[in-house]
Amino acid sequence: MNATAAVPLWQQLQALAKALADLGRGQSAPQVLAPVASPLRPGVQALLYHALRHWARGRWLRTQLVAKAPPPAVDALLSAALALCWSDALAPYAPHTLVDQAVEAAKRHPRWRAQAGLVNACLRRFLRERAQWVRASEASAEVVWNRPTWWLERLQQDYPEHWQAILAADAMPGPMTWRVNRRRTTREALLARWGEAGLVAEPVGEDGLVLSKPCPVEDIPGFAEGWCAVQDAAAQCAAPLLLRGLLRPTDRGLRVLDACAAPGGKTTHLAEWLEPQDTLLALEVDAARAPKISANLQRMGANAKVRVADAADVPSWSDGQLWDAILLDAPCTGSGIVRRHPDIPWLRRAEDVQSLAQQQRRLLEALWPLVRPGGRLLYCTCSVFHAEGQAQVEAFAEYNTDLRQEPAFGHLRPQNAGTAPALVDNLQGDHDGFFYALLAKVAPA
Ligand SMILES: C[S@@+](CC[C@H](N)C(=O)[O-])C[C@H]1O[C@@H](n2cnc3c(N)ncnc32)[C@H](O)[C@@H]1O
Repeated sequence: MNATAAVPLWQQLQALAKALADLGRGQSAPQVLAPVASPLRPGVQALLYHALRHWARGRWLRTQLVAKAPPPAVDALLSAALALCWSDALAPYAPHTLVDQAVEAAKRHPRWRAQAGLVNACLRRFLRERAQWVRASEASAEVVWNRPTWWLERLQQDYPEHWQAILAADAMPGPMTWRVNRRRTTREALLARWGEAGLVAEPVGEDGLVLSKPCPVEDIPGFAEGWCAVQDAAAQCAAPLLLRGLLRPTDRGLRVLDACAAPGGKTTHLAEWLEPQDTLLALEVDAARAPKISANLQRMGANAKVRVADAADVPSWSDGQLWDAILLDAPCTGSGIVRRHPDIPWLRRAEDVQSLAQQQRRLLEALWPLVRPGGRLLYCTCSVFHAEGQAQVEAFAEYNTDLRQEPAFGHLRPQNAGTAPALVDNLQGDHDGFFYALLAKVAPA
């Protein structure tokens, strides 16, 4: 980051502290960043994501250095400054600059001014005694792995051998991964076009490209014309898994349902795989998110019907006909995509896993009867927790004798090309954590 950026660092730190205090009240990173004005936004976003990747350490250090919690925004300012400056190697600005500017942020804020002495004393003491504080913080597993204890325990239980590799892969940001729209271009043609613009990318999966450096999407050649869409390599497996090899009925087009569709990344991919005579229906329960599906379909030149509906409330949207293929990309904790969304561990609660697993089960139970004999349902989540993947499907299969599991990936562990080359699962290349189960409906004997 550039310390001479047009917006003074103290001002960015003020906005960062407010964002983190709002995050502490349960708002997500995109929600807390939305009100940050545009000249401030890029800097604050970078600081926020950095602070969240060291949040357990910032919180731990603050509680040790200041026994009585200050008001939430000042608490967030202190914790953020500590999360940003604890390591010379990782700090986005020189630690003494961060401390000076955090004190300035407190002094210049009308409601924080009274706490400026406390901020100054705490942060200067930390800088003087940093090595000893950092060493002491290493005794906390939450600090070392930057996750709440319940999360670590669940991961250790689900992955006794791989939990550390999963956390290591998740500690660094994921790359910007794109899916090529085969209806509009080829991977080779897009690579050539990007090459002319000086962009470097590597192929991943069947249709993916990993950009060497992230860029604003509007600056990507071909984006506006729908040649490509941002989509992680694991998520790009959904459409081929569901539709490849599915026998076409001879008397009609395929009927494909995308049950939990917004923002439509997988809807546009499913549409790419279909023919004009086929039907694709995208359902989304959140009326505010549904328009994103239509906008993505339009940009990518793809067709689907979009409806706002609770997919589990079948009578509210169904025409009574069965489906050849259903994609159930169910709501989940997002425990597989922390490298892209470092706010997730600090927003979820231990009890969310169970309540999300119940929502997933409700959707599975409602949608399975709608699959025609010989048809398929692809169940997926962007979670590494077994309760939202393997265990969910095993419990469901126990009560449904008309179900046969076909080969799919099962749990994909996040794989960060830059940081964890030793962690290999059955999907090659850099990708998020994900779960896939392909359930085939057995025709009655
Ligand atoms: C994991 S996201 C889907 C991502 C999407 N498939 C994509 O690839 O862009 C889950 C979505 O399901 C929606 N959802 C949650 N419960 C639902 C329900 N009962 N019926 C329909 N949509 C639901 C959420 O609002 C959210 O947009």
